[in-house]
Amino acid sequence: MKGVQNFLVVFALLTLAFSLASASDPSSLQDFCVALNDTKHAIFVNGKFCKDPKLATADDFFFSGLDKAGNTSNAVGSRVTPVNVDQIPGLNTLGISLARIDYAPYGGLNPPHTHPRATEILAVKKGTLYVGFVTSNPDNKFFTKILKRGDVFVFPAGLIHFQFNIGKTNAIAFAGLSSQNPGVITIANAVFGSNPPINPDVLAKAFKLDKKVVEFLQTQF
Ligand SMILES: *[C@@H]1O[C@H](CO)[C@@H](O)[C@H](O)[C@H]1NC(C)=O
Ligand SMILES: *[C@@H]1O[C@H](CO)[C@@H](O)[C@H](O)[C@H]1NC(C)=O
Repeated sequence: MKGVQNFLVVFALLTLAFSLASASDPSSLQDFCVALNDTKHAIFVNGKFCKDPKLATADDFFFSGLDKAGNTSNAVGSRVTPVNVDQIPGLNTLGISLARIDYAPYGGLNPPHTHPRATEILAVKKGTLYVGFVTSNPDNKFFTKILKRGDVFVFPAGLIHFQFNIGKTNAIAFAGLSSQNPGVITIANAVFGSNPPINPDVLAKAFKLDKKVVEFLQTQF
């Protein structure tokens, strides 16, 4: 009997721990909640102000333009065109979004970054991409693949990942993300380009670099 009781207590604790460890967006509490910045016309609150559902229109759930290539004339040679709650207010609370990513030929890079709130599933429409993600400490195991047209790869929520165009043509991919607002932390920009800058002594020690190299890197972001 004691054994059964202990088992039930352990089971209850594990269930609680599992529900606390849930990392996805909270379940939607209503059919939808069109995001609204103007609170005068807002009525329901579910994390954000929502438009009165009676005033919602098809355009609240619509976006046009993912057929257009993003401009990759920049330092990294890639461009993300996001389609999240900022572009489609009707995505608010629904826990899903989309992006188009364009990569310049010969080395267009979507640099190492994480999405703190979303898992990503990436489908390649054109080109050849070297992709990968690294698991959390202590293993920091690197999972990598070379993807071609029609291939799909998953980047688990929160993990550092990248895509690099190793082909001679431009590349195009589409990504689904498990949040209406996945967030992005681009590692190099966040670390070396923070505002105000992190004390270079901290970064020199953390990255095992000469302080002059850190100061140089800080001028690059
Ligand atoms: C792409 O971006 C570059 C750099 O900002 C700019 O000079 C160029 O005009 C842009 N091209 C197009 C087609 O918008
Ligand atoms: C609400 O404000 C954000 C941040 O300023 C902006 O990006 C977004 O387009 C606005 N959304 C609407 C529906 O006006």
